[in-house]
Amino acid sequence: MLAILATICVTTINAQLSKADEQKINDLLKQMTLEEKVGQMTQVTFAVIAKGGWADSEGNIDPAALKKAITDYHVGSILNVNAHGFSVDKWIQVITQIQDEAKNTRLKIPVIYGLDGMHGQTYTLNSTLFPHNLAMAATRNPSLVRAAAKTTTNELRASGVRWNFAPVLDIGRQPLWSRFPETYGEDVFIAKTMGATAIKAYEEDGLKKSTAVASCMKHYLGYSGPRNGKDRTPAYIPEIELREYYLPSFREAVKAGASTIMINSGEINGEPVHASKYLLTDVLRKELGFQGMIVTDWEDIKRLHDRHNVAATPREAVAMAINAGIDMSMVPTDFSFYDLLLEAVKLKEVPMSRIDDAVRRILTLKFKTGLFDDPYPEASAKANFGKPEYQQLALDAAHEAMTLLKNKNNLLPLSKTSKVLVAGPSAQSITALNGCWSYTWQGNNEQWYPSDSKTILQAIKDKVGDKNAITTTVKGFNNPANYDLTALKRAAANADVIVMCVGEDAYAESPGNTRELALPDEQVELVKAAAMTGKPVILVLTEGRPRFITNIEPIASGILMAYWSGKKSGEAIADVLFGDYNPDGRLPFSYPKSMGEFVMYDRKPSEEIREVFNDNAGGGYDPLFPFGSGLSYTTFEYSNLQLSSNTLTGDAKLTVTITVKNTGSRAGKHSVELYTRDMYASITPSMKRLRAFQKISLDPGESKQLTFTIDKNDLAFVNAQLKTVTEPGDFEVMIGDKKATFNYKQ
Ligand code: BGC
Repeated sequence: MLAILATICVTTINAQLSKADEQKINDLLKQMTLEEKVGQMTQVTFAVIAKGGWADSEGNIDPAALKKAITDYHVGSILNVNAHGFSVDKWIQVITQIQDEAKNTRLKIPVIYGLDGMHGQTYTLNSTLFPHNLAMAATRNPSLVRAAAKTTTNELRASGVRWNFAPVLDIGRQPLWSRFPETYGEDVFIAKTMGATAIKAYEEDGLKKSTAVASCMKHYLGYSGPRNGKDRTPAYIPEIELREYYLPSFREAVKAGASTIMINSGEINGEPVHASKYLLTDVLRKELGFQGMIVTDWEDIKRLHDRHNVAATPREAVAMAINAGIDMSMVPTDFSFYDLLLEAVKLKEVPMSRIDDAVRRILTLKFKTGLFDDPYPEASAKANFGKPEYQQLALDAAHEAMTLLKNKNNLLPLSKTSKVLVAGPSAQSITALNGCWSYTWQGNNEQWYPSDSKTILQAIKDKVGDKNAITTTVKGFNNPANYDLTALKRAAANADVIVMCVGEDAYAESPGNTRELALPDEQVELVKAAAMTGKPVILVLTEGRPRFITNIEPIASGILMAYWSGKKSGEAIADVLFGDYNPDGRLPFSYPKSMGEFVMYDRKPSEEIREVFNDNAGGGYDPLFPFGSGLSYTTFEYSNLQLSSNTLTGDAKLTVTITVKNTGSRAGKHSVELYTRDMYASITPSMKRLRAFQKISLDPGESKQLTFTIDKNDLAFVNAQLKTVTEPGDFEVMIGDKKATFNYKQ
């Protein structure tokens, strides 16, 4: 029986492998020494093989260090850069040198290089940077997610890299968390849809092709919900919530065919996820059926000992993680993992079967990605780097991300004959438009950005001419000149309108931990001073998460949420401000008013009321801008919401139709969103949950009838027994301002 199970398991892991490749893996496993196996499970960072270690930022490999890693320690994988991205040619040289060394080893097992292509290929200079996931979620356009992921794939593969540490599938329900911009926002359905779309785009061509890369779902599980908001600190998430909100995007991604997964560096309910056999083996492997490779995040096995204190020794930490289900350790700065795992196996603290299982998965990935056929960067792939059409795609994505939140008296779009004062710290910043993972980890060094990247000021000058775009700003987000109120007031006298560019400069991970979500005081003062001049003020928010603007919202005539939208952010902002693009982005999160107002759109009925406050303002869900907000320069009217039946029975499908008409005078795109509400259920139901969306384009006066199909799975929730169920009863369907009801019978 066990033998049969083992065969079934091997067959599934090797789903995309030929019989011949499977045979080769079996042969290799038979030949490999324990040292060679443990080496395959070891991943080191570039500094380990760089000439001068961490000091080298130019990608020069030290042949002796390389030999030590690949030949002596049999290292299976390398990641990252030391300081900044390399050119395509440099990457080709780096990867070639590494694979040459691997060819010299006894079994000639190629090395798999992994990089973070989070919103484009981070670490290749002149790669195409797209909007971050948060902004991609605002587009509500999976075809853009798909096209951007294909481009990232091409640019990674051109650089000789076949493994992308993306997409982030964490749910953005905690804006204090510094990685909020990397998420698809607060909604489970959007994260599931966009995440699975990205994974298919990365992998669907078959990983041997030069148009595919292995994806990496991250960071499993519950990483985005630290209780205090700070990165890599404890999360307390009951399993019912974990399953309702945090697991579905991973479940969907596994179904979409993701080859690898990276683990949450934090802990849930006191258990570091890297040590959780329950989450890694029982849930991920057995329940979700994930057969690919599990890699740790940065230093996370070491941290079981020296940060989380659940392992009394470094070796115990290694045994704990590998026994829990980890296949590869991102060690990544030394070979300690290799030494400790060898010891642990010899002492029988880790069974050989676990090592063989892990190595089989690693070798499978290497076979699947074609590294055994030819590990070198492909000439055909290089031709796919930096194609001119990628620039248009980056612009399309940035356009559709732009989310117009306020447009008092239709001040926007502005006339191109206006005299515009462009102010605020991000007016002349490239980094504040791109955010993290942009040519460097933090994304905060303009030196590495393409020379044709445009600032908001430059893009506005392109619209109104140099003379009509005045500024008081200089380069450098934090330069005191950007906050000079006297200069601002003086300059405003010559302007018709003030475009005030505020928000956040680039940050990644822990450096973005913040004590305060309020917009910094000096930015608030700037906006107030601008309003005092009497000229209309338009706020452009370049930020990775909602920074509170409640006190300045009333004095702004227009508010454009621009997120971190990548290379073409400047152009997209200017196109919206001057009407060359009609905005259609919709908020992927609820923009809170203040720290005391963190309520998500899919709130429970008791969050809907406002019993605790002695004021009459709003209900319990009272954000500054609700989830899904987003204005257009045209108007859309909904009519004729119809259901195919008033009852839905068992596994049947319910068809929902609605007519949407463009009643304004401009063509526009629009995301039509279908929500449902379960009226009564054994677990308090949400007031609404997004179940489907379709983005359409309508000319003035044009109408379209849209059809949605839902079934019981779209109405399901996690019950007290932790089972996903649909209970019989009444449901409401909501699209725009229209509602209909139906009854579900089992
Ligand atoms: C991040 C991961 C990333 C890894 C490698 C870690 O600090 O959490 O998302 O893939 O570094 O760069």
